[in-house]
Amino acid sequence: MEDVYILAIESSCDETSIAIIKNGREVESLSISTQMKTHAAFGGVVPEIASRMHTENFTFVLEDCLNKSSVGMDQIAAIAVTYKPGLLGSLLVGVEFAKTLAYVYHKPLIKVNHLIGHIYANALENELKFPLLALVVSGGHTELVIMEDDYKFKTLGATMDDAIGEAYDKVARVLDIPYPGGPGIERLAATGNNSYDLPRPVLDDTYNFSYSGLKSSIINLVHNEKQRGHEIKQADLACSFQTVAIDELCRKLELGLKNTGIKNVIVAGGVSANNYLREEITKSCAKYDAHVSIPKLLYCTDNAAMIGAAAYPLYLKHDFADYSLNAESQANIG
Ligand code: KG4
Ligand code: ZN
Repeated sequence: MEDVYILAIESSCDETSIAIIKNGREVESLSISTQMKTHAAFGGVVPEIASRMHTENFTFVLEDCLNKSSVGMDQIAAIAVTYKPGLLGSLLVGVEFAKTLAYVYHKPLIKVNHLIGHIYANALENELKFPLLALVVSGGHTELVIMEDDYKFKTLGATMDDAIGEAYDKVARVLDIPYPGGPGIERLAATGNNSYDLPRPVLDDTYNFSYSGLKSSIINLVHNEKQRGHEIKQADLACSFQTVAIDELCRKLELGLKNTGIKNVIVAGGVSANNYLREEITKSCAKYDAHVSIPKLLYCTDNAAMIGAAAYPLYLKHDFADYSLNAESQANIG
């Protein structure tokens, strides 16, 4: 079969990204323009600024991606784009850009769910082996999913309240760690000890997660200690939070491994860039003789390469979108 090159577009949050992916597995070219510094000044992503910056950046990102590639638009088989979930204004910019390219260059259009994109980031490194358990840990989602085959998902459990990335970001804010909070907490935690006794979620025998109790207990603890004029051991608190948050992921993953007997695990989403998580999940999988795949750091956080990888099985099925494609802010996997 001839090689299939997909040009993929991602703009669901604060990264403008375009990639060209060969056969769903190889990154021919990847360009990412991050707006992180701009949003850091506001302590979080400002949706309207994000949309405006995507509008400013997209053409330059396309130019950069094509310049880095030996493949031209004439060799592109399809245009793929993230259409859900995410910030609506940001998604709309990407969807419209994709539709215009598809129309002008007479290419089929493929719509991709951003969360499924995070899952397929793993296909950029190892072939996905089914059935597998996918643990999705991002800014907006925490889900444990069985994947029987390409695009065959069964959700075992999800967060009942905050996503794990959201908890990292909110705890970071109360500790005055600049946006994005996740990497900041990780750095601080590496210098501290697990000395604070924090509440653990008690949803023991289900696959669901809960992070709002843990988050609120830290916010309350910080406020109370400040009011009393006590010093907060920032690094210890960051370490204690991270320990409970990641232990909880491991506990649910191990429950899934035990009950399903599945031997392949993949981890997906921005929080999978966390080294403590990578180590602990690897240990959990080793206990059950399961093979684990976690994308390299560049592919953990938002990027268009994963969107191209997720678009490939849809391309093979000729599952194309039409020009009425619109963006959707909310979505789960599947
Ligand atoms: O997947 P992602 O890039 O965007 C969404 O789809 O949500 O995930 C962003 C989340 C943020 O909450 C960020 O704080 C978290 O991933 N994150 C981390 C780390 N790097 C990013 N959390 C913990 N440790 C990290 N090293
Ligand atoms: Zn993401």
